[in-house]
Amino acid sequence: MCGIVGYVGYQDVSTVLLDGLKRLEYRGYDSAGIAVLNNNIIEVRRSKGKLNNLEEMVKVQPVPGNIGLGHTRWATHGRPSEENAHPHRDCKNEIIVVHNGIVENYLSLKDELQLRGHVFASETDTEVFAHLIEEELDRQKTEKESLYEAVRLALKRVRGTYALGVLSTKFPGQIIAARNDSPLIVGLGENEYFIASDVPAILNHTRDVIFLDNGEMAVLNQEGVKITTLEAVEKEKAVVKITWSATQAEKADYKHFMLKEIFEQPTAIEDTMRTRLGEDNIHLEEMELSLDQLKTIEKVTIIACGTSWHAGLVGKFIIEELVRIPVEVDIASEFRYRSPIISDKTLTIAISQSGETADTLAGIRQAKANGSKVISICNVLGSSIPRESDGTIYTHAGPEIGVASTKAFTSQLTALYLFTIYLGRARDTIGVERAKDLISELRRLPHLVGEILKKEDANLKKLAHGFSHYKDFLYLGRGINYPIALEGALKLKEISYIHAEGYPAGEMKHGPIALIDEDMPVVTIAVRSKTYEKILGNIEEVKARDGIVITLATEGDAEVTKKADHIIYLPDTMEIFSSLLTIIPLQLLAYYIADRKGCDVDQPRNLAKSVTVE
Ligand code: AGP
Repeated sequence: MCGIVGYVGYQDVSTVLLDGLKRLEYRGYDSAGIAVLNNNIIEVRRSKGKLNNLEEMVKVQPVPGNIGLGHTRWATHGRPSEENAHPHRDCKNEIIVVHNGIVENYLSLKDELQLRGHVFASETDTEVFAHLIEEELDRQKTEKESLYEAVRLALKRVRGTYALGVLSTKFPGQIIAARNDSPLIVGLGENEYFIASDVPAILNHTRDVIFLDNGEMAVLNQEGVKITTLEAVEKEKAVVKITWSATQAEKADYKHFMLKEIFEQPTAIEDTMRTRLGEDNIHLEEMELSLDQLKTIEKVTIIACGTSWHAGLVGKFIIEELVRIPVEVDIASEFRYRSPIISDKTLTIAISQSGETADTLAGIRQAKANGSKVISICNVLGSSIPRESDGTIYTHAGPEIGVASTKAFTSQLTALYLFTIYLGRARDTIGVERAKDLISELRRLPHLVGEILKKEDANLKKLAHGFSHYKDFLYLGRGINYPIALEGALKLKEISYIHAEGYPAGEMKHGPIALIDEDMPVVTIAVRSKTYEKILGNIEEVKARDGIVITLATEGDAEVTKKADHIIYLPDTMEIFSSLLTIIPLQLLAYYIADRKGCDVDQPRNLAKSVTVE
């Protein structure tokens, strides 16, 4: 969603802000702006569209200074425009605010403020912050004026979510920050301090970071940083050392972040397993649940959105198969508005790459309110969902910049395999020998993924070029590869804008078969499995109706060669691990089709990397 960068220090602030905003582009945005405080004057530059427009504007009209705020906006209230771009100001042009989130009571606040003479310049909810702070400052006695106190009292009147940055001409050298449900971090440099929505924005300057929690505020100035609660109680916060290098968040020599991240998967899977694989058990360091608690679980509920939901569907399959307890999988936005059956005998697993997805965050709060223990599978250290969970299994995929999730997905699957073996050993549904077999096969998977990437990349690029003109695709899978059919279809549609649908192959006769003709390629997952013969039958059904079949098959399978038009061979593995392999060619197929079409692969239209609003 929106991106925030703030800086106070000795460097040229517009350079720091623009560089930081560029590293937040992946969050999706439609306008951008910066504000610099210099000699008690606020200079603002804002533009609609891509950041390059803003950079050009600053080149033509430079804004010298050492303190400022920057923002990339993803419109929620008020159309994308220069007027609605942040930063926003008060009536006297003395206060600047940047914000990510939604002020739920902004209309009533705006009415009240306008009745008291405030003039608004934008359609945004954010602008109410500037006028509320102005009003609080006006109420203060001159000798006791405090920007921090004005912001704190203004926040008391706001209902909603915010990551907020504020500065004022009356308090030069000071930035006030606050966070409630929208991520915000504080960066600690050498005589320079930062705020940002996410780590990549400041990695070029510092790796020492404080993650603000809900209801916390920060005061930054040249001397340092102070953290308090909304009740003005000072707080000591842990400083986290980020191990990602700045280049890790760069594209390296790949054309797109997404392609780089597809090829990073062997490392991401390996890193997610690292230090967690024992000979016949799994070690989960952040798992705060005791073995007794794990033994009393009677049901698992998995909640997630999008690609993470597909990971949850795979999780259902493996937990039910290996641990023999019932698993429900819910799309988080559905879970939170139905009446789920949750008790203290339920274990809720929240899966989220960003750790900030609003619906998933709301889902775990509802689950906890009903007595459920919550564990999260998350890729962003210190993000909201893990901080509100009882235990966390962090995936170690590194920053995933491409909006379409790839390495985070396979890392989520890896975390689910780890947790399933861990749970199965705790509940004795997986014995020592079975655990040894599973773990030794897990150890092979990063290498097998690397083999697929090496052997099939060129084939898929060539195949994709012959399929980029089609308007519709159908993806079919069975069992543990039905969720992979869904994920393969999502990858294609979200980056190439081609309509694609994933379906359980057994459902063909119940509807989708009516769609089959020579204009609709069908991607089938026909690797070795207990339903292999069934999916061969599905391939024949498609061919009998002039359909074109692209099939994923297991190396050495001569049978499928007689039936499919295009075959991608994959190394053999246990059926239960096959989903970690079958998704790889589908990611590449989607990527090369989208790239062939000239789509904006890393930042597809209308999409954001982290959906922090409903
Ligand atoms: C996947 O490619 C999409 N970017 C999207 O569906 C994403 O998986 C979904 O928004 C959930 O995000 P999260 O994993 O950060 O919670």
